[in-house]
Amino acid sequence: MSIKPLVILPDSKLRLISEPIKEVTGEIRRLADDMLETMYDAPGVGLAAIQIGMPVRMVTMDVSKSEEERQPLVLINPEITWVSEEKRVYEEGCLSIPEYYEEVERPDRVRFRFMNLKGETIEQDADGLLATCVQHEIDHLNGVLFIDYLSKLKRDRVMTKFKKAAKREAGA
Ligand code: NI
Repeated sequence: MSIKPLVILPDSKLRLISEPIKEVTGEIRRLADDMLETMYDAPGVGLAAIQIGMPVRMVTMDVSKSEEERQPLVLINPEITWVSEEKRVYEEGCLSIPEYYEEVERPDRVRFRFMNLKGETIEQDADGLLATCVQHEIDHLNGVLFIDYLSKLKRDRVMTKFKKAAKREAGA
């Protein structure tokens, strides 16, 4: 297991559509381990494979908020199969957009289907933070970021800020 460098805005990799995973191989298991380690180290509650540069449909999450009782979730090829009509606003952040938080409105509850590391297909309901997180992470697999839900003004502002930071970094 190793901690991988995070892909940061405005890196165009974040806009890629990730490829489905056909089979749970040793390589996929190692990627899941690296993603969990990178996510816990950050620390964050969710990570998509593309955020460490791998364009495959896998997500790791842990919304337990407890160091002692970790509840790691690994979702392979996750899909939303149902969303509630009720919406909920939650302040979101993203490991690829560090130290930036904004309120985003999304369906309050969702049902999602995924394959686990044993190759089993599971369908599960989520509400609260898990519902927000699963929608945010599945968006990453489709090249969508939470800033896409903000006003153009806010999005332009954050893009400008991160472009400038990337330029400074490149020049340093
Ligand atoms: Ni994110």
